[in-house]
Amino acid sequence: MAYVLGIESSCDETGAAVVRAGEEIVSNVVASQIATHQPFGGVVPELASREHLRAIVPVVRQALEMAGRPLAAIDAIAVTRGPGLAGALLVGVSYAKALAYALDKPLIAVNHLEGHIHAVLLEEKQKGNHEVHFPVLALVVSGGHTHLYLAMEKEDGWTYQNIGRTRDDAAGEAFDKVAKLLGLPYPGGPIVDRLSRHGDPRAVKFGSAQIKHANRGDARDRSRVWFDFSYSGIKTAVLRYVETHAMQPAIEARRRKLVPVAKPSVEEVLETCDKQTLDLVASFQRAMVEDLVSKTLLAAGEVGASTLFVTGGVAANSELRETFERDAAQRGLPVFFPSRPLSTDNAAMIAAAAYPKFLARDFAPADFSAEASLPLG
Ligand code: KG4
Ligand code: ZN
Repeated sequence: MAYVLGIESSCDETGAAVVRAGEEIVSNVVASQIATHQPFGGVVPELASREHLRAIVPVVRQALEMAGRPLAAIDAIAVTRGPGLAGALLVGVSYAKALAYALDKPLIAVNHLEGHIHAVLLEEKQKGNHEVHFPVLALVVSGGHTHLYLAMEKEDGWTYQNIGRTRDDAAGEAFDKVAKLLGLPYPGGPIVDRLSRHGDPRAVKFGSAQIKHANRGDARDRSRVWFDFSYSGIKTAVLRYVETHAMQPAIEARRRKLVPVAKPSVEEVLETCDKQTLDLVASFQRAMVEDLVSKTLLAAGEVGASTLFVTGGVAANSELRETFERDAAQRGLPVFFPSRPLSTDNAAMIAAAAYPKFLARDFAPADFSAEASLPLG
């Protein structure tokens, strides 16, 4: 049974994990950089690289210790090749290469998006569910991506066809930007999720024009079915609402109060929010969720998907999960999510995605490099 050491450093989490046979998490360590980036309201690439450099050795060491396996008892090393921040990726890739070379172990390069998809599969297998029906439609919805992939399992691994993506901002980016413009802490998704429970999601109407566009078809290949997402309009709509409702002074006061706090609690944030803010936040989240769910289910119907995977940081969102579960069930479509810790960036998903490649002996050449805009499929 193969033990794969996974390493992830594509954005603002340094991760290392040991996964057995692509189906059992033996250890999974994530060092988050949230406190470093919080004062800036977003990820600062140079700081991210520096933090990865600091964290990578202790994080890998801890993952091995928790797994009770020395490096010699690892069968392969898997690392995120891209997409992500170039400098951040480079830290993981260089370290993984050096380890593989020094130990004379196979090295496996993994696409981060493929990792998010395999997070779902890994946990289903861990629960004893080996019955996933293909084709799988996977919505990868994170800070950098809102992508739809049609996934198939072939003898020598998985294949992916990209059938949709955002034209502008990713869904997680919209959560983060809206939170920032409202003076809420970084990252925006988790706090918007928590605050939305206290607001009225029907209070503010976002016109369909702000988030809905006709599918333009794939410019490169018009024979392909194509599904577009677009989330920069809704962010502008929130900004306009803030301006026309004179919310700026309250936002400034909130920002002054929260910026010095490294990790403000939900209660601390809630204390700074009036009903108007909570209603706006809840209405924004409802609009995002309705758009993500309706477009994904439309795509699932058109391509004849048998199973739905929803994964990536935004898949941690409570309302998104509830709405997908309710609406997919109505259509008799099974929908799977990773647990919350495995929805956001982690290395267990990278080690799991590497396992089919390990079996197929699909190893990375020693001179491969990190690729910031690595496509999948
Ligand atoms: O997958 P991930 O950890 O990193 C990327 O690959 O981008 O996703 C991070 C994104 C951030 O934009 C964050 O705000 C969002 O996921 N996120 C959420 C929630 N938890 C994290 N968005 C909405 N609701 C959440 N509960
Ligand atoms: Zn991610």
